[in-house]
Amino acid sequence: MGVKEQYRDYVMTGFVKRVEPVVADHGDGALLYDADGTEYIDCFAGISVTNAGHHNPKVHAAAMAQADKLVHACSYVYHVPSVGALAEKLAEITPGKLQKTFFGNGGAEAIEGAFRLAKRFSGKREFVAIESSFHGRSFATLSVTGNSARKKGGGPYMPGVAFVPTPYCYRCFAETTPDKCDMLCARRVGEVMRLHLSGDVCAFIAEPVMGEGGIIVPPDDYFKRVKKTLDDEGVLFIADEVQSGFGRTGKMFAIEHYGVEPDIMTMAKGIADGWPLSAFTARADIADAFQIGDHLSTFGGNPVSCAAALANIAFLQNGVIAASAKKGADLKARFENLMMEQALIGDVRGKGLMIGVELVEDRKTKVPASAAAGFVRQYCLEHNVLIGVGGNFASVLRIQPPLVISSEQIDTTFDTIAAALRAYKQA
Ligand SMILES: Cc1ncc(COP(=O)(O)O)c(C=O)c1O
Repeated sequence: MGVKEQYRDYVMTGFVKRVEPVVADHGDGALLYDADGTEYIDCFAGISVTNAGHHNPKVHAAAMAQADKLVHACSYVYHVPSVGALAEKLAEITPGKLQKTFFGNGGAEAIEGAFRLAKRFSGKREFVAIESSFHGRSFATLSVTGNSARKKGGGPYMPGVAFVPTPYCYRCFAETTPDKCDMLCARRVGEVMRLHLSGDVCAFIAEPVMGEGGIIVPPDDYFKRVKKTLDDEGVLFIADEVQSGFGRTGKMFAIEHYGVEPDIMTMAKGIADGWPLSAFTARADIADAFQIGDHLSTFGGNPVSCAAALANIAFLQNGVIAASAKKGADLKARFENLMMEQALIGDVRGKGLMIGVELVEDRKTKVPASAAAGFVRQYCLEHNVLIGVGGNFASVLRIQPPLVISSEQIDTTFDTIAAALRAYKQA
C-alpha cells in the first residue's frame, strides 16, 4: 500500500479537505522534494516552522550529537544540560524581563501552560482575546480562538472569555481609514473587559502578527495602547509568538516591532527548525507563582529538541534574520507594485518573510476572493511552489518560506504567483 492510500484509510486528516498530493520525502534549505524527486520551493515551511531551512546542517549536527548521547530522561525530573542552556538563551533573547521558561511539545500546550501560570500568579480567571485570533486546537486554546470555523462542533467552550475586535486596518471594524484612525480597536480592550467580564480578568492574549487569521499586522501603536490599559487594570499580557517568533517577521520576535514587553510569551514552531518543542517564558516573579507539582510534561524539553533549538537560534542570529527582513521587504514591495496590474489583490501586508496577499472580488466591496486564492495555491503547486492560504474566508495567500530562501527562489515564487493571478483572470 502506498503512502497516499495509507493516509486515505488510516490517518485521521481532520483539518483539511484533502492533504496536498505532495509526498514530503526530504528537504534542503527552502526546497522540499517529493519521493519521485520532484523539487518544490517551500514557501510555507511546514506552517512557518523550518525558519533555518530544511535539514539545516548546523541544527542537524547538534541534534545528532545529542541523540548519540541521550534522547530522553524527563527534563523535569533530572537536570538536562541542553534544557538549562536553552532556558538561559531564551532569557537572553526574549524581550525585557522575561526570564524563566517552561518547555512543552507544541504550541497549544505552551498556551495552556501559560494560562495556568497566569491564573496561579494573578488568582484571577478570565481572558480577553482577539476576534480573528488562532491559538491552537486544545480546549483552552480553542476557547480563546476567535475564528468560529475552527471551533465548529467543539463547544461549549471555557466560560470567562471575551473577544475584542481585530486590529485589521484593511477591514477596520469601525470602518475608519488609516488617516482618520483613532485606535478604537485598542480602546475596545478596556471597554470589553469592563462590559463583558466580571472584574476577574487574568490576561489578554494576542499574536503580535496574526498568522492563521490572514497575516494581520496590528497598527504601530496598538500594543502600546493596549498594554497601558492592561497595566492600569492589573491584567497580564501574553504574547503568542508561536507563529511569529524566531525571525519570521524580520526580528527575533514580532512584539519587538511594537516596543512592548509581554509578561508571558509563548513559542513553538520556529524554535527548533522542525524538532518538536514549545516554550513559555515569563518574568521571574510570575514564573515563581507555580507551586511544586503544578505543572509538568513528560516529553517537554526533549534534550534533542533543545540542542537543535540552541543551534537554530545561533544560526538565525548570525545575520540570517537581518537578511530575511530585507528579502521580505523587497518581496512585499513587488506584490504592492503588482496591485497596479492585478485588481484581484486588495491588500498586501506583513513583516519580514511573513507576507499576506489578500484577494478580493472587487476592491470597493472587498468581497473575499476565496476561489481565486484556492486557484492560485493549486496553480503554484502544479508549478512547484508551495504556498499557504489563510484568513477567515481562506482568501489570503500566505508566503512564509524558510528565511534562507535565495533571491532566485524568491523571483520564481513571485513570478509563479503573478502568473497564477493572470491565469485565474483568463480562466
Ligand atoms: C499563533 C499560534 N498559536 C498557537 C498555535 C498552535 O500550535 P500547535 O499547532 O503547535 O499546537 C498555532 C498554530 O498554528 C499558532 O499559529
